[in-house]
Amino acid sequence: MADRRRVFVTRALPGAAPLARLRDVAAVDVWEHERPPAPDEVAARSEGCAAILPMLTERIDGALLDACPTVHTLANMAVGYDNIDVPAASERGVLVTNTPDVLTDTTADIAFALLLAAARRVTEGERSVRAGEWGTWHPTWMLGRDVHGATLGIVGPGRIGRAVARRAAGFDMRVLYAGRREVPGFPGECVSFEALLERSDFVSVHVPLTPETTRLFNAGAFRRMKPTAIFVNTARGGVVDQAALRDALVRGEIAAAALDVTTPEPLPPDDPLLDAPNLVVTPHLGSATAQTREAMASLAVDALCSAFAGKRPRHLVNPDAWTHWRGA
Ligand code: DGY
Repeated sequence: MADRRRVFVTRALPGAAPLARLRDVAAVDVWEHERPPAPDEVAARSEGCAAILPMLTERIDGALLDACPTVHTLANMAVGYDNIDVPAASERGVLVTNTPDVLTDTTADIAFALLLAAARRVTEGERSVRAGEWGTWHPTWMLGRDVHGATLGIVGPGRIGRAVARRAAGFDMRVLYAGRREVPGFPGECVSFEALLERSDFVSVHVPLTPETTRLFNAGAFRRMKPTAIFVNTARGGVVDQAALRDALVRGEIAAAALDVTTPEPLPPDDPLLDAPNLVVTPHLGSATAQTREAMASLAVDALCSAFAGKRPRHLVNPDAWTHWRGA
C-alpha cells in the first residue's frame, strides 16, 4: 500500500537531529544493520515508500524504481551520486538530490592528510615502530619527499579540488589543474591532463565517477608521471585501473600512492593491491567527521522536507525530472 509520507533510510543517521526532523514530516523506516541492505532488501523495504534516503553503498537503478513505483525522491547522503542511475531516475520522474558543500573542506583535509602521509611515510614509519624495526637514527632511513615547494596537480578543479589548492598554498606549493575547461579564479595554472601528469610531484584526484572518468588513471597515465610522483585519490575507486596502479608501484614508475577509495569497497585484506610498496590506504573516510556527516544527513533531510512540501529541493542533480516529477 503506497504511503505518500514513508521514507526508507538505508543506515542509521549520524546525530539525532536530522532523523528527528524527518520523523516530523514522515513515517521513517531505518535499516537496522551495520552492513548495507542488498538490492533486494532495498526494494523490499522501499515498497510503498515515497522516498529513499540512500548512502553511496546502495545501487539504485531503473529496475528498483520500477519495483517501487511510489518512490518519487532519492535523497542521496553523499556529494557523489554514481550509485544512482540518474538518467533512469529522470526518465521516471524521480528526483535525485545530493549533499554538496558541507563536506568540501573535510574531504580536502583528508586528501592533504593522505598526501602528507605518503610523502613523509607516516603509516609505514608507524608500522615499523610497532614491528620493532626502529633501529638507531640513520641518515638514509625512511626518506620521503618534500611537500613544501613541490608541484601539486589537481585533476578536477571543482569545490574539493579548489579546497585542496587552498591548503597547498599554505605549503608554498605550485598548483596545476586539469579539467574540462579553464576555471576563472582557480588558484593554479590550467594545463592539459597529460602535462599535469608529466609536471606534477603530487597528483590529487577530485573528479566524479562518470563513463568519461572511469579508469582515467590507467597504465598510460601512470607511465607519464614522474618516477618520484605520488598519486592521491579521494574521489572514487573507479577512476583508477587498480591493476595498473599496482604495477606502476611495483615497477617504480611512480613513488607512492595514497587512496581513500578503492574498488571494491571494502577492499579485501588479500587484495593484490595491498602487496604494492609505498601504498597508504584509508577506508573511505573522506567525509567522516561527526560534524560533516551530521551536516550531510541534515541536507538529505532538507531535500526530503522540500519534496514533501511540494517544493523543488535545493541540491537537485536532475532538474529535468522536476517538470514531470512523479511525486507532484
Ligand atoms: C561523497 O559524499 O561522495 C563521499 O565520497 C562520501 O564520503
